[in-house]
Amino acid sequence: MTVRHPAGPQPGAGSPGSKVSQRREDYFPIHPRTILPGTAGLFDLYLKRGDWFVLYAKKGEHFTIEPKLKDLLDVSEFYIRVDQRFDYETYLARNLGNMLLNDQLPMEERSKLFYQISSGMLKQSFASKLPRGLDDKTYQAMQLLVKRGIALLSKEESLKSLSEFLSHKYHTYSHSLNVMVLTISVLQSLSGMDQTTLFEAGLGAALHDIGKTQIPDEVINKSGPLNQAEWEMMKTHPVRALGICASMPISHVATNAILFHHERFDGAGYPGGIGGEGIPVYARVLSLCDVYDALTSERPYAKALAPYKALSIMQEDMKGAFDPALFKRLVYVLGNARIV
Ligand SMILES: [Fe+2]
Ligand SMILES: [Fe+2]
Repeated sequence: MTVRHPAGPQPGAGSPGSKVSQRREDYFPIHPRTILPGTAGLFDLYLKRGDWFVLYAKKGEHFTIEPKLKDLLDVSEFYIRVDQRFDYETYLARNLGNMLLNDQLPMEERSKLFYQISSGMLKQSFASKLPRGLDDKTYQAMQLLVKRGIALLSKEESLKSLSEFLSHKYHTYSHSLNVMVLTISVLQSLSGMDQTTLFEAGLGAALHDIGKTQIPDEVINKSGPLNQAEWEMMKTHPVRALGICASMPISHVATNAILFHHERFDGAGYPGGIGGEGIPVYARVLSLCDVYDALTSERPYAKALAPYKALSIMQEDMKGAFDPALFKRLVYVLGNARIV
């Protein structure tokens, strides 16, 4: 396709016989940099000129906007019709990898895209309850999510920017995303962390609570304290996760991360009661990030705490639970991102 220049108001433009709607509620704005040159559009693209919505590029054509980039930069927003929102989101999901690495796209926009697409994917995966265990498609999507998370978080200021979007209302899927983001950030800050371990531990973090999909919602969402039987059931979720992942070629690093995320540094955790350096470093980091995110999220039985309050509870009231050196590292990473 050749991208047209809007010559002015063209209320009748579009496919033959169709009219361009001029109702504001029929459109939503998008950042122009999310339209990548050379990709094919799954949707029509509109501009606003004065009070008019004008068709700029038609669905099915290749965006060849590169030569016109300068011209494009004068455009602060493109518009997409509400009925093509799904097609736009599909386009984003396909091209997200490139967008996250595109330094031309503001970090805020990259973070927003990463968050929208990742949380949508995790929500779908966790809602399916995975009756036959983790399937190929979900596993691949999880791997892609972790790779993209690592790519985005390797950029300066990304955690700060991303933290603005992370949800603090507790759901297993949003908690899993938050914990994955934090775990990757803390591990990336440790010297000598190799890329394979980082990736596998990130995957473990994304999947760490997947065992909760097998625990009844009444127990997960109970507003009061759990009774003994419910508590015993809840404590099975790290082991259940391994059953759910059994048919996938999951590495021992990811397995350990999942299995040991409720172990405590003083050995009083579960399921194994192992302690100290017997718990792999990435699982110690995951356990810190897990508790920090739970405390700073609004749960059925507790209000969300401010970051500094959550950290002070972890340090004072939960003495012995965490590796003190890694706790300091978490504080440093959060401070660097200006979260605390
Ligand atoms: Fe857990
Ligand atoms: Fe968790």
